[in-house]
Amino acid sequence: MAEDVYPVPAEWQAEAGVDASAYEAMYKAARSDPDAFWLEQAGRLHWTKAPTKAGEWSFDEANFGIRWFADGTLNVAANCIDRHLAERADTVAIIWEPDAPDEEPKRFTYAQLHAEVCRFANVLKANGAKKGDRVTIYLPMIPEAAFAILACARIGAIHSVVFGGFSPDAIAGRIEDCDSTLVVTADEGRRGGKRVPLKANVDAAVARASSVNRVIVVKATGADVAIGERDRWYHEEAAKVAADCPAEPMNAEDPLFILYTSGSTGKPKGVLHTSGGYLLWAAYTHELAFDYKPGTVFWCAADVGWVTGHSYILYGPLANGATTLMYEGLPNWPDASRIWQVVDRHQVHTLFTAPTALRALMKEGDAPVHATSRASLKLLGSVGEPINPEAWRWYHDVAGDGRCPVVDAWWQTETGGIMIAPLPGATALKPGSATRPLPGVLPQLVDEKGEVLHGATSGNLVIAGSWPGQMRTVWGDHERFFQTYFTTYPGKYFTGDGCRRDEDGYYWITGRVDDVINVSGHRMGTAEVESALVLHPRVAEAAVVGMPHDVKGQGIYAYVTLNAGDEGSAELREELRQHVRREIGPIATPDALQFAPGLPKTRSGKIMRRILRKIAEGEVSSLGDTSTLADPAVVDDLVANRAG
Ligand code: WTA
Repeated sequence: MAEDVYPVPAEWQAEAGVDASAYEAMYKAARSDPDAFWLEQAGRLHWTKAPTKAGEWSFDEANFGIRWFADGTLNVAANCIDRHLAERADTVAIIWEPDAPDEEPKRFTYAQLHAEVCRFANVLKANGAKKGDRVTIYLPMIPEAAFAILACARIGAIHSVVFGGFSPDAIAGRIEDCDSTLVVTADEGRRGGKRVPLKANVDAAVARASSVNRVIVVKATGADVAIGERDRWYHEEAAKVAADCPAEPMNAEDPLFILYTSGSTGKPKGVLHTSGGYLLWAAYTHELAFDYKPGTVFWCAADVGWVTGHSYILYGPLANGATTLMYEGLPNWPDASRIWQVVDRHQVHTLFTAPTALRALMKEGDAPVHATSRASLKLLGSVGEPINPEAWRWYHDVAGDGRCPVVDAWWQTETGGIMIAPLPGATALKPGSATRPLPGVLPQLVDEKGEVLHGATSGNLVIAGSWPGQMRTVWGDHERFFQTYFTTYPGKYFTGDGCRRDEDGYYWITGRVDDVINVSGHRMGTAEVESALVLHPRVAEAAVVGMPHDVKGQGIYAYVTLNAGDEGSAELREELRQHVRREIGPIATPDALQFAPGLPKTRSGKIMRRILRKIAEGEVSSLGDTSTLADPAVVDDLVANRAG
C-alpha cells in the first residue's frame, strides 16, 4: 500500500526552531542524561529558587511516587505574567472573541492581564481562599475564566475547573470530592446563541455540597439571577480590593490544579497536576510541537473546562509570552465560515482544534472555507481523538490551502501536555499518525502479557518512564492512582490506548482499549452513564458501549433492561435520554438506546461487553463465541431489536 507522506515544507525546514537533526539530538540527550536535559529545560521558567534536582520517581509499588524539580520554588502565575512585564508589558496576552460575530472582541495586554489577575486574586483572598484551598471554577469562555484560573495560581489555591456543560449533580460531585470552599461562576454562559443557566446550576449543586461557603458571581450576560447570602457579585467585590497582589512562592510540587476526568470504572477521577513540572511541560510542548515564535497569534479552540484549554489556551502560551486567542462560541455558528472568519479577524497563525469540529465543518462543503482568506494561517493542530485520514486531508488541503503542516497531537489529561506529535520543522507527516514522541517521552507497545514489542507492530501503549508533566496523584486516592495506571503493566504507565507502530517508527493511535468512550473528543466513562441510567425508577439494569459516529467519532449506545413487566415505549426512550442529560450533562446523552429484556452475561454474571460493542457497531455477523453465556438466546433478541 503506497503511503501518503508529506515532507517538511522547505520554508519550515529553513526557519525551524527544531529541525530533524536537532530533534534527534534532543531525543538522545533526554534519554541518555535526563537529569541534565531537564535541569537545562527548567531554565525556561523563572524560579525564585532554582531546582538542583530533576525527576525523582518510581513506578514500582514498593517506593511508588513521582516528583520533579522538588527543591525548586516558583509561582505559576508570575511565570505566565509578571516575568513578561519587563519586555512585553504592551504585548497582547489574550484576545477574546465573543460568541456573536457582530460584537467587539476584547484585548488584554500582559500589563492589563497582570492587573486583572491581581484584582481577582485579592477578591478570592478577601472571600477566604488561601494557599492549598480548592476553588471550583464553573465559567463560560469569558476573560474572567482566565483571570480566575491565574488568580488561584497566584495565591496558591488549587483550581478545579468544571466544564460549563456539566449538570448540577456533576458539579456537586466534583465539589464534594475535593471539598471546595469557594465557587466562581457567572450569571449565564452563551454559546452558539444559546444561554446556559450557570448560576442556577451552581445553586442546585451547592444546595447539596455543604463545603461551599462562598460563591463569586461574574456578571456576564446581565441575566436576572438570585443572589443569596452565600453569593457575592464579582464586580462589587473587585471594587473593594487593592490593585496589587504578591505572587505566593510555591514549591515545584505544590498542587496547581485538579481536573476531573472519566475512567473505565467508578466516578470521575480528580487528576492532580503540580506547579513546576506541569508548567514546564506546557511551555516546552507548546514551543516544540507548534514551533512557537514570538509575535504570532495562537488559537486553541478548546474550552478551558478541558485539559486542552488549561495547557494550550492558558498555561503553555502564556508561559511563553504568546498572544493566545480565547473564543466564546462555536466553530460553526452562526454558520460554517465562522471559525475561518475568526482566523482572518485576528490573523491567527496556528489553529489547534479537534477532529470532531473538522468533520462537522467538512459536511458543509468547501464554499464556507473558500469564502475566507486564511492567509495568516501557517500551522494546524489536531487533538482529542484519532483523526481519520479523510478529515486530515480536508484540514490540510482545504482549510490550510495545502501549505500548513498538521500537528496531530496525542496526549491525555493525565500527561499534562502533548506526548506524541510531529514537530513542524522536523517531522514528515502521515495523515492519521501522531508520528513520533517528543524528546523525553518513552513510548512502548506491549502485548496482553506485558511483553515489550519491537519494530512495526500493534499493542497497548505504555510510557516507560516519567516526564515532568505527568499527573502526580488522584486527588484523595493515591492508591487508585497506582492501581489505575501502574498495575496492568508493572513498572510502566498504562495509557488506556491501543496503538500501531509502523516501519518508520511512527505511532498510530487506534483508540481506547478500556471502557472509556471518546465522544466528540470528550472522555466519557461507560460506568458513569450506566449509573445515571439506573437512577431512573423504571430501569433495572443498563450497559453502555461506544458506537461509530461520523461526526462525533464515537457515540453512546445504551442497552437498558426495565423493571419486570415494563415494556418501554418511544416516550420512555426519550425520557431516559433526557434523564442522562440532566444527571451528567448534554455530552453524555445516549445517541442510541435499546430496551433489552436481558443482557449477555457469563455464568458468573459478568456482562460481555465485547458482544454489546459488536451489536452497537452493526457487526452482527461476527459476534464470536457466545456459548459461554448463561443464556445465549438473549443475543438473538438484541440483534433483532438493534436501535438505530
Ligand atoms: C484520545 C485530551 C488519537 C486518546 C488531550 C486519549 C487521541 C484520550 C489524540 C485523552 C490524538 C487524544 N490521536 N487519540 N491526537 N489525542 N486522544 O484526557 O484516546 O480528554 O487517551 O485528553 O483522547 O483524552 P483527554
